[in-house]
Amino acid sequence: MAFLELQGLVKRYGEFSAVAECSLSVAKGEFVCLLGPSGCGKTTTLQMVAGFTPPTAGRVVLDGQDITGLKPSRRGLGIVFQSYALFPHMSVADNVAFGLEMRGVVAAERGKRVAQTLELVHLAPLAARFPKELSGGQRQRVALARALVISPPVLLLDEPMGALDAKLREEMQIELRALQHRVGITTVMVTHDQAEAMTLADRVVLMNKGRVEQVARPFEMYEQPNGRFSSTFLGKANVFEGRHEGQGVLVGDVCLPCLADAPRGPVDYIVRPERLVFAATGALVRGRVSARVFLGNHWLFQVETPLGTLQATQVNAGLPAVAEGDEVGLAWAAEQARVVARGA
Ligand SMILES: Nc1ncnc2c1ncn2[C@@H]1O[C@H](COP(=O)(O)OP(=O)(O)OP(=O)(O)O)[C@@H](O)[C@H]1O
Ligand SMILES: [Mg+2]
Repeated sequence: MAFLELQGLVKRYGEFSAVAECSLSVAKGEFVCLLGPSGCGKTTTLQMVAGFTPPTAGRVVLDGQDITGLKPSRRGLGIVFQSYALFPHMSVADNVAFGLEMRGVVAAERGKRVAQTLELVHLAPLAARFPKELSGGQRQRVALARALVISPPVLLLDEPMGALDAKLREEMQIELRALQHRVGITTVMVTHDQAEAMTLADRVVLMNKGRVEQVARPFEMYEQPNGRFSSTFLGKANVFEGRHEGQGVLVGDVCLPCLADAPRGPVDYIVRPERLVFAATGALVRGRVSARVFLGNHWLFQVETPLGTLQATQVNAGLPAVAEGDEVGLAWAAEQARVVARGA
C-alpha cells in the first residue's frame, strides 16, 4: 500500500509549468529517486512534498492523511536541501540537536538521540568539531544526521551529494544505501546523476520537462526504456527512427531485426552500445571506425554507417582492439533491440 502519494501535482508560474503533472505512489521503506535533466521540475516536486511550494493543483497524501495544506513544520519530514547549510557557529552535535530543541525534546533525551544518530552516520568522534573543520563529505553527513535525528516518516533529499567529488560521492552513495536499509526510512531523493539513481533507488522516476516519463526499477528501466528520452538519459543508446511492417524494422533501406511482437508502424529502434559486436560475417550494417576511446575496462568506438554514427563498446580483454579508420561490420541479435512505438 502506498505510504506517500503524490496525486496529480502541478506547479505553474504564470503560463509556465515547472511541474506539468506528477503522480507517484511510494511504499513504506522504499527508496525512490527523481531523476532528470536540469530544470525538469525535480526540486519543485520535492518542495511541494516538503510544503515549501504550494501546488497549483493536486494533493500530497501521507499515510492516508491529506497534508497538502499543512505547513512544512507540521509535516515533520526530514529534509536535506540542494543547497543545505549548517550553522557555522555551532558544533556538529549542536547542529544535529537543533531540530530536537525546536521540537521541545528535553536535554537528556536530546543528547541520547544526537549520539545515536551521529553513530549512524559515522560521525561520533567529530561531535565537538565545527563545520569549517570538516570535509565536504563529513558536512554532508551532518546535514543527513540533522534530517534523520527527528525520526521523520519520510526523508527528502535534494542532490545531497552535489558538492562532493566523484570518489567521495560513490562512497557516500554506498553509505547512504546501507543506512537507508538499516533504518528502513521511506526516502525520496532528487538527482540528475543516472549512476547515482541506479545505485540507490528501488525505483527511478524519470522526469522530463515537468512530466514523469517513466517509473521503473533501475534494471527494468535500463532494459525496457519506454522511448528515446529514457534510453539515452539512463545509459547510452543508439536510437533509429524506422517503420515496422512485420519483417523487421526498416531504417532508410536497412532492415534491422526485431522480435515478432514488436509494435507495428512508426517506431524508435533502440540498441545499447554494449550489445553491438564486430562481425566479420553476418553484419547488419557496415561502417568505418571514426573514433576509438580507451576507458580502462572497456573501449568505446564511434562507427560511421548508413544508419548514422553508431556507438559501440567492447570489454577490454587485454587484446588489441580495432583501430580508427578500420572498416568493420556490426551485428546484434533481435532480442537485444528494443522497439517502441513512436509518437504514441
Ligand atoms: N519561483 C519560480 N518562479 C518561476 N520559475 C521557477 C521558479 N522555481 C523554479 N522555476 C522554474 O521551474 C523549472 C523547474 O525548476 P526545478 O528547480 O524544479 O528544476 P530541477 O529539476 O530541480 O533542476 P536542477 O537539476 O537544475 O536543480 C525551471 O525551469 C525553473 O526555472
Ligand atoms: Mg533542483
